[in-house]
Amino acid sequence: MFNIILFGPPGSGKGTQSEKLIEKYGLKHLSTGDLLRSEIASKTPLGLEAKNFMDKGQLVPDEVVIGMISSALDTNPHVPGFLFDGFPRTEAQSEALDKLLKLKKTEIGVVLALIVTEDELIKRLLNRGLTSGRPDDNNEEVIRARIVEYHQKTSAVAEYYKQFDKVVYVKGEGTVDEIFELLTSEIDQRNQPVTQ
Ligand code: AP5
Ligand code: MG
Repeated sequence: MFNIILFGPPGSGKGTQSEKLIEKYGLKHLSTGDLLRSEIASKTPLGLEAKNFMDKGQLVPDEVVIGMISSALDTNPHVPGFLFDGFPRTEAQSEALDKLLKLKKTEIGVVLALIVTEDELIKRLLNRGLTSGRPDDNNEEVIRARIVEYHQKTSAVAEYYKQFDKVVYVKGEGTVDEIFELLTSEIDQRNQPVTQ
């Protein structure tokens, strides 16, 4: 199994690149943002609770997202690996994920961290807000709140994985295909098929 965390601030291209990566490597895409939006669409109690946080650009409580990921791991026992997008987002989530993967006798192979300037993030998200229907893309104040949450809580995730030497920084500006090339080259260097 080869498991990847695609890491980066809001609007850095995690979702865009995930679509291409899962197609190339056959990984199971686990985006906590997508999972939460689908709970909201289905009006579940979990979705209704999460919506209060998401609409303000705040992180949803750790136990909610950890529970979602735990059941997603259990319901996908036979995949070649997972691509985590938007998770983990706090140090507590990182520790919980490592424990869950250890129970499954696997681990994170690499953390690919996309680097994008703040001006570009805001431009991309405001632009997407014109058509996405995502309430958290609609106004600049909420977008800025998401970026503040990222600096205050989520940047710790990269620090956490650095102690295991798993973090690789990748330029997240350029064309989608250029960034995809950089990501696949990092993955291929670390995920060589075992030869005897
Ligand atoms: P989530 O859905 O994860 O959103 P996010 O991390 O804020 O970021 P986005 O999904 O908006 O951006 P992205 O990096 O995927 O970029 P994308 O490819 O879409 O989380 C939403 C909320 O859910 C959080 O605020 C929180 O409340 C909650 N949540 C989720 N996970 C949680 C967790 N683990 N713990 C607690 N709470 C959690 O690209 C963005 C735009 O840029 C698109 O329009 C795209 O077309 C464009 N674009 C992409 N690449 C390029 C490029 N190379 N050049 C130009 N434009 C590009
Ligand atoms: Mg996304």
